[in-house]
Amino acid sequence: MQLKPFLLDAWLDQYEHTTEFNLAASTGPVWSVPEILALADDATRHRFLNHNLVYSRPAGADSLREAIAAMQQVPVESVQVMTGASEALLALMWLAAEPGANVIIPVPGFTTFSALPQSLGIETRFYRVRRENGFRIDPDEIQRLADSKTRLILVNNPHNPTGATMGDEEMEALHHFTAERGIQLVSDEVYHPIYHGKPTRSAARLPYATAIADMSKAFSIAGVRTGWMIEHNAQKRQQFWTARSYFSICNTTTGEILAEIAIRKHDAVLGKAQQVASRNLKILESFMAEQRDVLGWIRPQGGMTAFPWLVSGENARPFCQAAAERGILLAPGDCFDTPSHFRLGFAAAGDNFSKALDRFGSFVKSWSAKMVPA
Ligand SMILES: Cc1ncc(COP(=O)(O)O)c(C=O)c1O
Repeated sequence: MQLKPFLLDAWLDQYEHTTEFNLAASTGPVWSVPEILALADDATRHRFLNHNLVYSRPAGADSLREAIAAMQQVPVESVQVMTGASEALLALMWLAAEPGANVIIPVPGFTTFSALPQSLGIETRFYRVRRENGFRIDPDEIQRLADSKTRLILVNNPHNPTGATMGDEEMEALHHFTAERGIQLVSDEVYHPIYHGKPTRSAARLPYATAIADMSKAFSIAGVRTGWMIEHNAQKRQQFWTARSYFSICNTTTGEILAEIAIRKHDAVLGKAQQVASRNLKILESFMAEQRDVLGWIRPQGGMTAFPWLVSGENARPFCQAAAERGILLAPGDCFDTPSHFRLGFAAAGDNFSKALDRFGSFVKSWSAKMVPA
């Protein structure tokens, strides 16, 4: 079994701690433990400071599951807590890995989507989120790829790295298509509900879909390593519970309590992320208009990342490398199998975003001057 190199994480690990402005991160405003605890009532703060560092439950702590169920408006039984959305993806792909099976996933996309099924020897079919198509997630293209051996179709809504979204009616039609054929429809919603266009509803409302979400992206408290699945089918849930028990047993008790506090105050935590993302996206729009001779882009409809490209069509890795040397960290598009693009996160730099773009702007100028033939 082979796991392909995780190019994105290798890149981030190399540069993230030494580059002055981080425009590669896909998260939002940073929270500290005291800031999260300040959102809690006295009893919860007391519970946090005095909890025993024991195993939690494989399905997730009862009170955390209740908080998730209330926010997602689903029965508490439908909630399976995971160690990040990463573990949910691992359980899903592991369980889909039957001989002859295929799965359908987006490209560009979060590397784990393809690395897991490929390592497990499952045929991996890709639908393209193309710039020529305005980064539309096309349900017809997805359906054309499916056959009797398709076990799983994954939609990432809002989509990392493009910020594309799939509308409610299209998602419902895809749900109908997959339900009729016994295909597992997975909606990775780690950026829900951060929107810059028409908001979309969580797939948690759909009886045959599996929604996965986390505390890392929209909530931006990745350090608690908490994610969850909403699964209404008890048999499937039992399999996810078993997979989880083998993979990691349970979460850290500390992470679960902090996650619960943030979820109970989701209006405040998600509100801050939305505010920072909306404000910075406006700044980014003016910036991209000024850079249009060198950079192309499509404004994201959701999430906290954009996926611009070099209009020259060249591979963006040397561009990202040179930008990193000037203190600007971007993520090269080859990390997403789309080399002429790069990912730009607009919510993690917070109040520093304008300064970061000033620096990035002078870098783009010097880069394009170098590119002009003598
Ligand atoms: C689309 C998507 N899904 C899932 C994950 C996994 O996140 P985590 O394990 O932190 O919840 C990521 C992380 O980058 C992601 O971008």
